[in-house]
Amino acid sequence: MIGRAEQARHTLHGVSFTEQRAARPSYRATRLDFSRLPAEEARSRSDGFVELMRRRRSVRHFSPEPVPEPLIANALRAAASAPSGANRQPWRFVVVTDPAVKTEVREAAEREERRLYSGRASAEYLEAIEPIGTDWVKPHLTDAPVLIVVFEEPWSLDDAGEKRKNYYVRESVGIAVGFLLVALHSAGLATLTHAPSPMGFLNEILGRPANERPFLVVPVGYPADGATVPLLEKKSLEEVAVFI
Ligand SMILES: Cc1cc2nc3c(=O)[nH]c(=O)nc-3n(C[C@H](O)[C@H](O)[C@H](O)COP(=O)(O)O)c2cc1C
Repeated sequence: MIGRAEQARHTLHGVSFTEQRAARPSYRATRLDFSRLPAEEARSRSDGFVELMRRRRSVRHFSPEPVPEPLIANALRAAASAPSGANRQPWRFVVVTDPAVKTEVREAAEREERRLYSGRASAEYLEAIEPIGTDWVKPHLTDAPVLIVVFEEPWSLDDAGEKRKNYYVRESVGIAVGFLLVALHSAGLATLTHAPSPMGFLNEILGRPANERPFLVVPVGYPADGATVPLLEKKSLEEVAVFI
């Protein structure tokens, strides 16, 4: 927390801290925890991070070998540190390791995906996913030792049990999942982002309430020996970025 004397000096857009406080009674400031990196260290961390990220791939062939629980807990802590609209943190992560529950999830997902691949999906979509090489069979849902099922919360209940709308829910949860994937990858674990379509069955199997909407399933583990991935290209910096 910032001391009183400093608060008095502190201004934002010419408005004193005291005036800001009066306009926003629930606003409290704390000192930013920031340390400027020496230029060389910044460059070397930045280069190292790009290399790390380039080695991330979506893995669909998992070893059943268990993963250390603290790595999962830390990755969830990292995900939960993500920015979110109005800091509502509109996410819930359900960690499934029980083989019977994983089997239920797989059976339900395969029922949906079978319908998707055999008629429900448009020809255009099937053509788009052809280079990924997937079909309706989803062994990763039972082979991976951990499934992190991510739910988004369009609304939450406040302390008085009243419905409270959340903001920028999809954006927020997407960013949190990004943090999750990076944290798991940096801990040496493999992941897949899997979106069975539709996903409503996840609420029923996992006993989640009505304000939680399935967002993605993230199988986590170590790759199986000899695992393969589709040969895909990423767009270059020039293709994805515009510098003005
Ligand atoms: C929102 C989202 C949904 C996805 N859904 C699936 C899926 O249902 N099944 C699957 O095998 N891969 C799925 N993927 C993984 C993509 O196919 C994969 O990220 C893409 O082919 C690029 O490969 P890479 O992750 O190895 O770089 C999904 C990815 C995202 C971001």
